Amino acid sequence: MPLEKYRNLKKMNKIISISEFHKETGNVVAVKGWVTNQRSSKGLEFIILRDGSGFAQCVVEAAVVSAEVFENAKRLTQESSVTLTGTVVKDEKQIGGYELRVNYLEIIHIAEEYPISNKTHGIEFLMENRHLWLRSKRQWAIMKVRNQIICAIHNFFQSEGFVQMDAPIFTGNACEGTTTLFSTEFYDRPAYLTQSGQLYGEAMAMAMGKIYTFGPTFRAEKSKTRRHLSEFWMIEPEMAFFDLEMNMNLIENFLKSVVSDVLKNCKFEFEILERDTEILEKIAKSTFPRVTYDNAISILKGEKDVDGKFTIATMEQDLKEVEKEIEKMNLEIVEKEKQIASQNVKQNRKNQLQNEVDTLKNDVKELEEKAKNIPQWISSAKNFEYGNDLGGSDETVLTRMFDVPIMVYNWPHEVKAFYMKRDSQNPDLAKGVDVLAPEGYGEIVGGGERETNKEWLIGKINEHQLPMEVFEWYLDLRRYGSVPHAGFGLGLERLVAWICKLKHIRETIPFPRMFGTLNP
Ligand code: 4AD
Ligand code: MG
Repeated sequence: MPLEKYRNLKKMNKIISISEFHKETGNVVAVKGWVTNQRSSKGLEFIILRDGSGFAQCVVEAAVVSAEVFENAKRLTQESSVTLTGTVVKDEKQIGGYELRVNYLEIIHIAEEYPISNKTHGIEFLMENRHLWLRSKRQWAIMKVRNQIICAIHNFFQSEGFVQMDAPIFTGNACEGTTTLFSTEFYDRPAYLTQSGQLYGEAMAMAMGKIYTFGPTFRAEKSKTRRHLSEFWMIEPEMAFFDLEMNMNLIENFLKSVVSDVLKNCKFEFEILERDTEILEKIAKSTFPRVTYDNAISILKGEKDVDGKFTIATMEQDLKEVEKEIEKMNLEIVEKEKQIASQNVKQNRKNQLQNEVDTLKNDVKELEEKAKNIPQWISSAKNFEYGNDLGGSDETVLTRMFDVPIMVYNWPHEVKAFYMKRDSQNPDLAKGVDVLAPEGYGEIVGGGERETNKEWLIGKINEHQLPMEVFEWYLDLRRYGSVPHAGFGLGLERLVAWICKLKHIRETIPFPRMFGTLNP
């Protein structure tokens, strides 16, 4: 296309994003983006362009464009940025379902050799290059799902009449115990980064009725796990005049609504992530089992069944299957390595096989880790002592018995936070609830009814050795028009990890902050 015409297109505002291709079939449009992949064939350059809104194959044909444009197309490197002009053609076979037949190409920047290629990279390398890794297709899909989840959360609470509030990040109050506090200084006074906005949420609920916070929270977790971040985003609704049961009803409706919304809006993303969505579809329609702590422990220890099945036998069966799977994969590796060594296989195919071998080896390593863990999980489940908090592995074993999230409620008060309401009939129990996600994910929500008995609350603050003076304002909520109230906290990244079925929480947030990770 002559430059003049292209400039006209620009004037006509026909620069569109890939996600708008479906509205432009047959039209000439311009699109700006980055070259994520490219291959050449005689007289043809196939560019996979990404522009943040999606991916599209763009074909540059020597016979169609000027010699100069074709030369420029050949010069492109991975992650070079371009403006492409061409005709949008519907093509189901292509990524995104459309293709751009290019007739003009303008280089914005030729990228230097890009460190992340299409071969398998180790996780450490990828984490060091997180700022670039975010451009890859899988990470793009995760960030899109995260965005949709955030949107669905706001939609749910706004439509239910909740008022969004922002809690402070500097605080003098240890809300969730003193062991995970990040200490800092606030104009010469000791302060912490907030672990939870809840206490402020309670104050706002007494002003607004129903509120939710949505903000960053901080926990010093001096260990590397797949579920813990040092900085994570929490959604904390708080409702005046709610009891534990109303709280659990809300949690269930809320989670089902978010899951349904994401299922509807993230089909392409789930395809990229190879996420089997059947289990999510089911969740959107089922009731979440509500299990008392007492019953949960009996199930965990293998004393009580769930639909005729017991934890210990189920885990032993899982172990056998993992071992079989490892054996099968190892055979596959041997087979592929034979082909790589063979002289009759083309180099291209060998590279592809090597990639597959690397992936398989990674998978085997993970399964071996699991095979090593299962016996430990079994023994810790069997020996679980009533009255303790559930550990990560206990949650995995317990949720293995269910394919929907479960709500564990009525906890021993000793393992819960100071603000948790004690059962007046049975003061050993606190009216807390944890939601445990299936597929091995475990706790995604923690919440409960709040203590309204001022004397009991003061007792708890003392028992937890918290400084009374910084809680005076909180006690005021029990002095002036105290009402039953409840709420919960959802860890955004835990939810993203489960919905996307990710192995590790580090991929759920653009720039994770974890023990040992501060850069980039
Ligand atoms: O169970 P937690 O500690 O509860 C609270 O903070 C309450 N104040 C919530 C409330 O009732 N308003 O944390 C709530 C959730 C957990 O269920 C988990 O999903 C997430 O926050 N979470 C973490 N996520 C990532 N990394 C960590 N280190 C997390 N710690 C908690
Ligand atoms: Mg918790």
